[in-house]
Amino acid sequence: MTETSYEKYIHADKILSFQKKEGELVCYGELDFQGVQQEAEFIWTRINFMLKRIKKNLESNNIIEGVGLFYHASDLWGSLTNKTQELLKHLWPKDFLKIRKIIGEGASTADSQRYRESEKLGRNLWSSFENLLKLNSLTLESLISQDRETEQYSEMRSLISAMMWYDYRVQEFSIAHLYLVFGIIGDRTVGLKGGTTGFLIDRYQKYIFPKIWDSINNLYLDFKPVRR
Ligand code: HEM
Repeated sequence: MTETSYEKYIHADKILSFQKKEGELVCYGELDFQGVQQEAEFIWTRINFMLKRIKKNLESNNIIEGVGLFYHASDLWGSLTNKTQELLKHLWPKDFLKIRKIIGEGASTADSQRYRESEKLGRNLWSSFENLLKLNSLTLESLISQDRETEQYSEMRSLISAMMWYDYRVQEFSIAHLYLVFGIIGDRTVGLKGGTTGFLIDRYQKYIFPKIWDSINNLYLDFKPVRR
C-alpha cells in the first residue's frame, strides 16, 4: 500500500511499528495497556510544551495567554484520567498478570521522564507567579480575600483559578490511577518499582501549588458560624 501524505506527515509507519502485532499479544488487553501507556507519553510531551509556554507568558506579564494554556494543559490531564478509567473498566486483572510477567522488573511508569518533567515544570511555575505578585505589590492572601466583582487584578484572580484547576486535574489523574491499581493488582501488591498504594496515596497528596489550596483556609480563620 502506498503511504498517503497524511501518513507520511504523522510518521504513521514508524509510530505503529512500536505497537505489538496481533500475533504477538499475550492477551487482547495488552494492546489497550501498551496503547494507553504510549499515548500517555505523547500527552505528557504536549503538557510539558504548554508548561514551558506558560512560564514564558507569565514572565512577560501575558497573564491571559497563560490562563488559556493552563486550561488547555488541564484538559490533557483530563484525557489521561479518561484513559486510566478506560483501563479500569476494560482491563481484566488476570490478563494484566500475564502482561506483567513480560514487562520486565523495574519497568514502571514512575520512571517516565516526561511524567517527571511535567511535575518539575509545573512546580517551577510557582516562582513566576510570585514574581507577578511582587510586580503588582500583591500577596496571595490579599487576592483570595478580594470579592469576585472587584475589577482590579481580575486577571490575577483568573490565573489563580486556572492554577487550581490545573492542580485539580493532576490530582484527579492520580486518584484515577490509584483506583486502577486497586482494580488491577490490588491494594497490597507491590509495584514494578517496589511502590505500594501507600506510596501512591502519599504522592497524590502533594499538590503542585500547595500554597494556593492552603490560602483558602486563611479566609475562614476568623469565621464563626452564627448560632440560631
Ligand atoms: C494498568 C495497570 C497499572 C498498574 C497496576 C500500575 C501500578 C503502579 C504502581 C504500583 C506504581 C508505583 C510505582 C511502582 O512501584 O511501579 C505506579 C506508578 C505510576 N504509574 Fe502506574 N500502573 C498502571 C497503569 C498506569 C497507566 C496506564 C499510567 C499512565 C497513563 C500510569 C502512570 C503511572 C505514573 C505516572 C506513576 C508514577 C507516580 C508517581 O511517582 O507520582 N500507570 N503505577
